[in-house]
Amino acid sequence: NDHEKKTELMKDKKVLITAGPTQEIIDPVRFFTNHSSGKMGYALAQAAKDLGADVTLISGPVSLEKIAGVRTIDVQSADEMYQAVMKEFHEQDLVIKSAAVADYRPKQTSDQKMKKKEGDLVIELERTKDILATLGEEKSNQYLVGFAAESENPLAYGQEKLKRKQLDAIVINEIGFQKGFQSDHNEVVFYSKDGEEHRIPYATKKEIAEELMQLVNRKMTEE
Ligand code: CTP
Ligand code: CA
Repeated sequence: NDHEKKTELMKDKKVLITAGPTQEIIDPVRFFTNHSSGKMGYALAQAAKDLGADVTLISGPVSLEKIAGVRTIDVQSADEMYQAVMKEFHEQDLVIKSAAVADYRPKQTSDQKMKKKEGDLVIELERTKDILATLGEEKSNQYLVGFAAESENPLAYGQEKLKRKQLDAIVINEIGFQKGFQSDHNEVVFYSKDGEEHRIPYATKKEIAEELMQLVNRKMTEE
């Protein structure tokens, strides 16, 4: 019946999803992070699991409940996420990178709490590794989906990221009022390397995740 068909759709598929922010340590009480709540990535993991996939979720620090039946690996920093993703990557059929990975981390981390001093403080930052771009370079048969969070020119920047990182598809997310970061809602454009553009209008992240998984699954089957 229909219900069975729907749950079987991603049976035997191994899916890796990253979610949430990363935290880049300054000292024992401080870190740099961003507004990612992890909700979009967790909704994707749930949707993939509901379609019968074997799901691994690599998660930055979030305050969301673990998903029953999804293997979850907790990480803190961009470097820890990089290590975890590279370890799991090779055996996957599909990788979706919805995590908001820090682009920079403090060049030095202090073992002791930093004490305040007179005058301004300058913290030197260095670039983190781009996990998604590394996957684009090293991928064999995995279908690779990135996210792009943009506050301006979403489509142009998103398409540029798809090319630069050698992705199969990108989910473009315009940061704005009551959507994207923190919100339970979102509005996205799915754009695949063959030029197909599919807008998913304002909806809950659960609904968006379910539609994205259907789209990705169709694209993977076409290849
Ligand atoms: N990403 C990653 N590793 C990083 C930075 C980003 O894997 N060190 C991934 C994100 O998980 C996302 C995609 O790259 O899937 C795009 O992230 P985004 O921040 O939108 O793009 P950047 O390439 O970092 O460019 P910028 O922040 O300058 O717009
Ligand atoms: Ca970035």
